[in-house]
Amino acid sequence: MAVERTLCIVKPDAVEKHKAGAILARIEESGFRVCALRMTHLSRGVAEGFYEIHRQRPFFGELVQFMTRSPVVVAVLEKEGAVGAWRDLMGATDPAKAAPDTIRKLFGSNVGENATHGSDSLDNARREIGYFFPGAEVSSL
Ligand code: CMP
Repeated sequence: MAVERTLCIVKPDAVEKHKAGAILARIEESGFRVCALRMTHLSRGVAEGFYEIHRQRPFFGELVQFMTRSPVVVAVLEKEGAVGAWRDLMGATDPAKAAPDTIRKLFGSNVGENATHGSDSLDNARREIGYFFPGAEVSSL
C-alpha cells in the first residue's frame, strides 16, 4: 500500500477538554508520522471555506459555529494508507455508533461535537492539507 498523507483536525470540543495531547499520542502510537502541526482559532471565513462542500446541508451553520468556538489543532499525518487508517482510528462520525476504543468513541460527544476530523479521500486530503499548510511547512523527513 502506498504512503499517503491526510489531514487531522482536533476539534474545539476535544481541545477544550484538554484531550489534544492524548489524541496526538494515540495517533503516534498507531504508527502515523506527524509531519505538520499547528494550533489555530478558525475564523468564520476559514471554517466556511474548509467545509464548503457541506454548505447546502442543514447543519452547516451549526458546524461553522462549533468549529469557530475555540481553537483547533490541525495536523498532517503520514502512513501507508493514511486516509483510511486515520478514518478507522477515528471511528464513525457519530460517537454513539463508533467502535470501542476509537477516538470518537473515547472523546466525542455527539455527531457534531465528535472530537476529530479526517479527510474522506486522497483527493480531499490533498485539498485539505493545502488549505491549512503551504508546502514548505510539511516535513518530508
Ligand atoms: P467532519 O468529518 O468534520 O465533516 C463534516 C462534519 O459535519 C462531520 O465531521 C460532523 O461533525 C458534522 N455533522 C455531520 N452531521 C451532522 C449533523 N446532523 N449535525 C451537526 N453536525 C453534523
